[in-house]
Amino acid sequence: QKEKAKNEHFAIGAFNVCNIETLKAVTQAAVKLQTPVILEASDREINYFGIKELSAVVNVLREDLNIPLILNLDHGKDFEMCKRAVEAGFDYIHFDGSALPLEENIKITQEVVKLAHKHGLPVEGEMDHIQGSSEDHTKEDPTKYQLAGKYTDPEAAYGFVKKTGIDVFAAFIGNLHGTFATSEKLDFDVFRKLTTILPNTYFSLHGGSGISADQIKKAVEMGIVKVNVNTDMRIVFKNVLQKTLNESNEIAFYKLARPAISAVQGV
Ligand code: G3H
Ligand code: CA
Repeated sequence: QKEKAKNEHFAIGAFNVCNIETLKAVTQAAVKLQTPVILEASDREINYFGIKELSAVVNVLREDLNIPLILNLDHGKDFEMCKRAVEAGFDYIHFDGSALPLEENIKITQEVVKLAHKHGLPVEGEMDHIQGSSEDHTKEDPTKYQLAGKYTDPEAAYGFVKKTGIDVFAAFIGNLHGTFATSEKLDFDVFRKLTTILPNTYFSLHGGSGISADQIKKAVEMGIVKVNVNTDMRIVFKNVLQKTLNESNEIAFYKLARPAISAVQGV
């Protein structure tokens, strides 16, 4: 799918699913649009859902829905978590060692690549920590978060990719986790240099929530094949569920959850 995305200039949406409700919302939206979709979960989201449970439910959905579903470990924090995801049947492994010293990040990424490639799975690596957090930052200016980080240096990224053997590179070009008062402004000059120096590497765009549609489109045209989205779904899920609970005397959760599911589907 990532090769097709690159050649045909589209990206696959990667949406965080931490419960059955968001999983329903994302897969139903993908069925409506007849598009492949990446279902992703971070360590904590996986621990909430259950790693075997998540994988099993996705397998059931795969049989029922006629679209490609790709199950992605999102920001796996250590080798052990990546190994658990491989063993549980995930399709795509993102190891995020960006909080570690570079040499340690490279060493663990190499180990993850060795293991995942043995199972035919692609690996995404992260060198420069993508700033922010998947929370509601709508009262905050994105600039201070962008300045707190180190934008990806193309030469250093080249070294990282060559040493680790990763398939997909999670670049930091101003994209932030979370939704802010204004759209994050992406640095397309840095991104152009990255795609030039690494023509055979795939690139993801984390922090998709809150980035303007025109910038996402431009990034995709320039070579992004995966756009990660979490916060915008979290915000509407919470707000719509809260409103429903406040306004209803209903006690059946499957009825109370429906409006929140369709709001997440909208995102
Ligand atoms: O991997 C997760 C995404 O990068 C989430 O970013 O919360 O800004 O949508 P977001
Ligand atoms: Ca964002």
